[in-house]
Amino acid sequence: MSDKLKYTEAGKFEETRFEKIHNVVFENSDVASIEVAKEIAELIRSKQAANEHCVLGLATGSSPIKVYEELVRMHEEEGLSFKNVISFNLDEYYPMTKENTQSYWYFMHEHLFNHVDILPENINIPSGEVKQDEIHQFCIDYELKIKEAGGLDFQLLGIGRTGHIGFNEPGSHYNSGTRNITLDHITRVDAGPAFLGIDHVPRVAITMGIGTIRKAKRIVLLAWGVNKASVIRETIEGEITAEVPATYLQRHDNVTFVLDEGASTELTRERTPWLVKNCIWTDDLTLKAVVWLSQKLEKSILKLTDKDYNFHGMSNLLVEQGSAYQLNINMFNRLQHTITGWPGGKPNADDTNRPERNTPARKRVIIFSPHPDDDVISMGGTFDRLVEQGHEVHVAYQTSGNIAVSDEEALKFAEVALELNGSDTNSKKIVADLDAKQEYEIDTKEVRNLKGLIRRKESVAATRYVGIPDSQVHFLDLPFYETGRVKKNKLSEQDVTIMKDIISEIKPHQIYAAGDLADPHGTHKVCLDSLFLALEDLKKESYMDDCWVWLYRGAWHEWDIHDIEMAVPMSPDQVLKKKQAIFYHQSQKDGVMFQGDDSREFWVRAEDRNKETAKKYNSLGLADYAAFEAFKRYHY
Ligand code: F6R
Repeated sequence: MSDKLKYTEAGKFEETRFEKIHNVVFENSDVASIEVAKEIAELIRSKQAANEHCVLGLATGSSPIKVYEELVRMHEEEGLSFKNVISFNLDEYYPMTKENTQSYWYFMHEHLFNHVDILPENINIPSGEVKQDEIHQFCIDYELKIKEAGGLDFQLLGIGRTGHIGFNEPGSHYNSGTRNITLDHITRVDAGPAFLGIDHVPRVAITMGIGTIRKAKRIVLLAWGVNKASVIRETIEGEITAEVPATYLQRHDNVTFVLDEGASTELTRERTPWLVKNCIWTDDLTLKAVVWLSQKLEKSILKLTDKDYNFHGMSNLLVEQGSAYQLNINMFNRLQHTITGWPGGKPNADDTNRPERNTPARKRVIIFSPHPDDDVISMGGTFDRLVEQGHEVHVAYQTSGNIAVSDEEALKFAEVALELNGSDTNSKKIVADLDAKQEYEIDTKEVRNLKGLIRRKESVAATRYVGIPDSQVHFLDLPFYETGRVKKNKLSEQDVTIMKDIISEIKPHQIYAAGDLADPHGTHKVCLDSLFLALEDLKKESYMDDCWVWLYRGAWHEWDIHDIEMAVPMSPDQVLKKKQAIFYHQSQKDGVMFQGDDSREFWVRAEDRNKETAKKYNSLGLADYAAFEAFKRYHY
């Protein structure tokens, strides 16, 4: 076992006393995956040395991708052989052909089997192709085959937001074996983007059972990103329950959960460390604790008492600070100073306690928007203020967003173009391409181009409405995005160069970007990485000395109150204006392709979220605003 995945030494027990499953938190999913790959490679090699087979239980999904990538690298560069490996995959959709790019058969070959020397006869994946009346026997045989191979030496798992492992959805029994199962709605929602819409996601799957999985000699479960944080907390700290099938793993004596920082954020020791140990009270931790206490007791900050602190694990903080009175005032002021109606700085005003500098009075600003609409959805009010207050605001749309336009929408535009000009061969081809398109098929270049154009024109309509000239609107079309599929390419030098070029051309004083960390493989995160890499390269340039970077959160989440460093209030009128700007993105209204599990339209989500932030500030005892947009500064 890799040293880093070993059980923690005694002495840390205090910190983990709420936890019922051993877990290790890494700084990010890449380094974590490399450790897991090391453990698997060690096992394969030790079995080789003993002349034995190594029986691996394997998972699919986004979580294990980097582990497989590292195993492939070890095979290619370090001679790791898979000749003694027998593999059993957890699950497969049903019905599902092997050739379908969404099948787990396809996934495993694409990510692992095609690149290593595993013997094809040693690969076992539940079949999505067996006849309905043969499934029962197929499942019995699958179980038998695992047994005959000597049982699973190692089982790799991911976890669904329902708490499923394999496809053992809520309700699964502790002793369940391999069987067919109906997928939970949330699981289908999460698979929706890969299938280009939930309607195409199969309703049934074949999965190894809980009983099958828990017989594995060693189990490692991977979870990345804040999206998984709450199910990870329930699984590690909650009671064993069929509602969250992963909790059954609490009964296994050789299991490790490997997490990144995002997935660990809801664990008690991370979320409220003062409840489990003596803390070193930095300013940030103090604010986090005070906000938490105020919210928990439903009391404004200035009303918190010595007793409140003492009863909630913060007695040493109180000793350090002298009294609740002083501590409350300090934290209240800190929050108060995040609020500003001048996101570009207030000219000629003392800026000691303001989030932004007052000079230069007129700033050059770049708003990076991962998709063509995140700018107005996430910071439409701030965008409007920056323009109104005279700054030179540029918007740079990082990707074309073309896969989020439906075929029906594209057909509408192609038909209009054809009516206007009957001899337009391009539109004719687009109409014919859409007509002939099969399910799961990638759009032709021409169709993708039209879909991208639709989003461009919607964006320009919105930016004109906010009031910037078209010359300040930039479409970067980063190449990593242009696969025509949900699965994107890796970020390349070319993407980073495009980002660097626009920054060096504009020489901004302020950059705004989507700081979404929820989905480590999602487009927003890749777009953020492209910015971070560009900044790393550019920071030696003198014009960057004066450039501040502010991160907003995308359509799905908001910063926690203690993270916010600039809160821009919006008047009721501005809330309406922002809504109008979002409306210009018509192809993303009413039943969009990538809805997620939130049925509200984007403008409703944005409005609710901005109102919610204002409400939270107010209940902490600060002024009562209609809505807030929130930002956190990034230091590079
Ligand atoms: C995949 C599987 C599932 C996934 C889980 C998490 O074989 O059985 O349990 O591990 O749905 O999926 P990702 O990793 O995509 O978040």
